[in-house]
Amino acid sequence: MANYILKFLREKEYVSGEVLARKLNISRVAVWKQIQKLKDTGYKIISDQNLGYYLVSRPDFLLPQEVQRGLSTKYIGKKIYYFPELKSTNIIAKEKALRRAEEVDEGTLIIAEKQSAGKGRLGREWFSPTGGIWISIILYPQLPPSYISRITLMTAVTVVEAIKVYTQIRPQIKWPNDILINEKKVCGILTEMSAELDIINWVVVGIGINVNIDHREFPEDIQGNTISLKETSDKEVLRVKLVQTFLQGFEKYYESLKRREFPSILSEWKLYSHTLGKKIRVDMGEKIIIGEAIDINESGALILKKEDGELAEIISGTII
Ligand code: BTN
Repeated sequence: MANYILKFLREKEYVSGEVLARKLNISRVAVWKQIQKLKDTGYKIISDQNLGYYLVSRPDFLLPQEVQRGLSTKYIGKKIYYFPELKSTNIIAKEKALRRAEEVDEGTLIIAEKQSAGKGRLGREWFSPTGGIWISIILYPQLPPSYISRITLMTAVTVVEAIKVYTQIRPQIKWPNDILINEKKVCGILTEMSAELDIINWVVVGIGINVNIDHREFPEDIQGNTISLKETSDKEVLRVKLVQTFLQGFEKYYESLKRREFPSILSEWKLYSHTLGKKIRVDMGEKIIIGEAIDINESGALILKKEDGELAEIISGTII
């Protein structure tokens, strides 16, 4: 109902309560109640006794109707579960992905304005206050499980390109999935999946972007190596637009990945690489490998040239 009212308010300047009531076949009091609801979710609407209602501005909340308005994707973001606050979008997305049979379609999104227990890689916490973009995407790719790292690399390229459009800044990607600006982390990606031996059941791609967050809000231990888009561009970034650009890019690259066109995505990844050509240390859990990052191969693994000249292929690890 509120969505219909918004549609009419967007078309004209003032729309009278009477016209709205007639169009929606409800009472004027019911119209007034819907308008109050919209105001409560952040829409600025003024009312004039003679002229009616006028939509002054929309909120920069990632409300489904805002994200979907003008979104040109075929299936990514067609269904959105929105939460002002929740523990972690990845947790909810995984629960939903398990219920695939119950109409949880591919491309369904979980969006939160704030997470109270955001999850990072390797069991770390992910600080997720209001002002960021905290999203999880549910996918059912008919691809072998080894494609998981390609999905992560592809997501990183998509985030970088979306950020470039809205800030004129060119972020870099630290293998496999940290997005950096001025050597500091602005975005993290957490990809989780369930798979059989040779086929993926579901994938949840969780994306966290520090957008309109003040530096002083970050916990002290990560302040030094974290940054937000607002801080780099000196102005607030419209999150709805950034999300839309990201989702459109995501669908394009995901389709191309399914057509087995990863090499062209990888070329893009390499353009933004912060890692290649550097001497690095990679923590692989049970050991640390040191060497020069010389390439990323066709399956998304990092190729390290060790000090003894031997090549190591690293599928998963953390650069320290
Ligand atoms: C990392 O450690 O770099 C990955 C961070 C991923 C954070 C995002 S925010 C949205 C989604 N929900 C979560 O709980 N985590 C991911």
